[in-house]
Amino acid sequence: TCPFGGTRISGAAGSEPQIDHWWPNRLKVELLHQEPPAANPLGPDFDYAEAFKALDLQAVKSDIKAFLTTSVSWWPSDYGNYGPQMIRMAWHSAGTYRIADGRGGAGQGMQRFAPVNSWWDNGNTDKSRRLLWPIKQKYGAALSWADLMVLTGNCALEIMGFKTFGFAGGRVDAWEPDRSTYWGPEGWTGKAPKDAPRGPMAGHPEEMVNRGLRWQGGPKDATYELDSPLAASHQSLIYVDPEGPNANGDPLDSARDIRLTFGRMAMNDEETVALIAGGHAFGKSHGMVKADRIGGAPEVARMHEMGLGWHNPEGSGNAEFTMTNGIEGSWTPNPTQWDNDYLENLFRFEWRKTKSPAGSIQWTPVDPDAPKTPDAHVEGRMNPLMMMTSDIALKEDPAYRAVCEKFLADFDYFSDAFSRAWFKLTHRDMGPKVRYLGPEVPAEDLIWQDPIPPLDHAVIDDADIARLKSDILASGLSVTDLVATAWAAASTHRVSDKRGGANGGRIRLQPQRGWAVNEPDRLERVIPKLEEIADRFNGSAPGGKRVSFADMVVLAGCAGVEKAARDAGSNVEVPFVPGRRDTTQELTDVEQFDWLQPVSDGFRNYHDTSIDFTVSPEELFLDRAMLLSLTAPEWTALTGGLRVLGVNAGGSQHGVFTDRVGTLTNDMFRHLTSMDYVWSPQDASEMTFDIKDRNSGERRFTATRCDLVFGSNSQLRQIAEVYAADDGKDRFVREFVDAWHKVMMLDRYEVRPTQR
Ligand code: HEM
Repeated sequence: TCPFGGTRISGAAGSEPQIDHWWPNRLKVELLHQEPPAANPLGPDFDYAEAFKALDLQAVKSDIKAFLTTSVSWWPSDYGNYGPQMIRMAWHSAGTYRIADGRGGAGQGMQRFAPVNSWWDNGNTDKSRRLLWPIKQKYGAALSWADLMVLTGNCALEIMGFKTFGFAGGRVDAWEPDRSTYWGPEGWTGKAPKDAPRGPMAGHPEEMVNRGLRWQGGPKDATYELDSPLAASHQSLIYVDPEGPNANGDPLDSARDIRLTFGRMAMNDEETVALIAGGHAFGKSHGMVKADRIGGAPEVARMHEMGLGWHNPEGSGNAEFTMTNGIEGSWTPNPTQWDNDYLENLFRFEWRKTKSPAGSIQWTPVDPDAPKTPDAHVEGRMNPLMMMTSDIALKEDPAYRAVCEKFLADFDYFSDAFSRAWFKLTHRDMGPKVRYLGPEVPAEDLIWQDPIPPLDHAVIDDADIARLKSDILASGLSVTDLVATAWAAASTHRVSDKRGGANGGRIRLQPQRGWAVNEPDRLERVIPKLEEIADRFNGSAPGGKRVSFADMVVLAGCAGVEKAARDAGSNVEVPFVPGRRDTTQELTDVEQFDWLQPVSDGFRNYHDTSIDFTVSPEELFLDRAMLLSLTAPEWTALTGGLRVLGVNAGGSQHGVFTDRVGTLTNDMFRHLTSMDYVWSPQDASEMTFDIKDRNSGERRFTATRCDLVFGSNSQLRQIAEVYAADDGKDRFVREFVDAWHKVMMLDRYEVRPTQR
């Protein structure tokens, strides 16, 4: 018998059921420690930016363009041109982006890993990437997969007559699948709400919750609300079902889904139409074989398939037999040429519903004299044009139709709109422009890049920093005021799409200045005082030296933390790196920025109770810690420090387990781990708790789930114990200061050594 027991005789596989099966609802703290350095074969010293900069990008592009028109026998190109399938690969790489949490997108080349590589909607993108391998092999580590996929999309557009807006390199590849992104429940295909085939999570309590969508109505007329932060109408799709929701073939229903999902990708109506009409000017859909004949996705394909999936047993299994999505045909008579034929044909003809050889709903012109399109492989064969339900949606939805008419009347305008929307799609998750690399970075600043003017003056030195800190401390502002304001500014950053942060000084601009979690009343007191100190300094500083408001906010936080530590008997200096710049209200897209507003923020014990959350506050708290790229010890130390510094939103006293508010002690952890207390829920919702003296029964403190999780969760408790121990006080202060500095610097890509 196997000494390890379990169902398999394998040490590496472990024995089932494993921790996740036993306790699916436990907080998955380990999500904070994804992508460990040990997983990276390039090692910690490899500097991708340097390697990329050394590339001759024009030479790379020439190689890619030559490859695009050189067909290989194991996967012959349609129309002798791999361009269209590469555009789709690039679009699907970027198209997973969603603005609510900034996750998804092209930034880390996640299309290489499960689950994304095996989504039905990514069918045959495995072939596209494998076709690109010789290029990747030639340039190796200097050209990440993530950059290569987007660059190839651009090259494809260019060889087919389209002028692209630009290209920026700088996407650093991930080396393992992302386990943290919620894509909706498994088995949620959207096509058959009642009888949907169940995925590998079948029977799993998480799946039962079915959080992705809340069905209303019966199987035939089902509608749903899409859970936040999802931006695809069904799990495992990039956006919407081309056949309409639940494959109902209804263009107006499809338009509703398109608007919802593209909106969550931060695209407005005009950008949405530009992208769909622009993309479908090229290539074709593939639907020659019934789906049930097709083999498993790459992640479950057999060993000898060597990472390729969706084996097609029909004919050669490719070329004229190709089966990808299920719909068959091309949208235009010239599928490898940039023109306005897609929109012209969509509007010139009436379209009627029909079925592809694979049985999928699609549309064909009613007029038998409508132009035909050449077959992608069979010489001399001509095929009818095709539209998907999601294409007809652009004609039937009144607002989309208006955009189409504008594009039909002005092809140059349409071309410009598509080039800008394509650039936005493929670069949206790269963060500030300082991360953009290469000779093709467009000079024009775009509002979605959250522009910050470049530094154009000398910055403060050590003596100035000391003087400004003492001015700040003498201003009458409390430690809590200083720390809360700096935290509010910096903690908006999220490493997913690298938006937010203290740089730019947007804490004094709308919408951030008005967010409830930021306590606008406090900001109205703090901001003018910091501006006044900065103005005084700037008015008298020699040699054009200046301190920005953005730097002042962070410096105020440093001064506050140092004072709080001093008052607790620890002398620490909080690092400070000047050089932040102030931006303006005009350079801030209020609507797009509002997506960064926290609806739940455990760091400040803030939870918007008007929202019907389907996940617990501590899971949302973990999510915020993850978006700040914190480790579990950093997360724990920051929480313990922020609580004793009184940084809770709205003056809440939950979790403030100290009598010395404003002093950087380890009191939170000492009380949290002490058996002198008993803890009890305040009501049946178990959202808030009383902490009472075990002997007297007297209530000492109150708490939320985001406080007690550091004592109840086995992994977090171990960390809390380290900080609560008699030898843990200094360690706690050190860890708090380091983590604090890390958060303050998250958006400083111009000076931070790591690029991801
Ligand atoms: C192909 C759906 C938006 C570019 C396809 C296919 C489907 C599809 C089902 C056929 C896949 C196959 O069987 O090979 C949709 C839907 C969209 C959408 C439902 C949104 C409502 C876009 C966008 C772009 C794009 C925004 C790019 C800007 C392409 C290209 C192809 C394609 C170039 C041809 C691929 C080839 O020739 O192999 N699309 N698409 N699509 N799509 Fe889209």
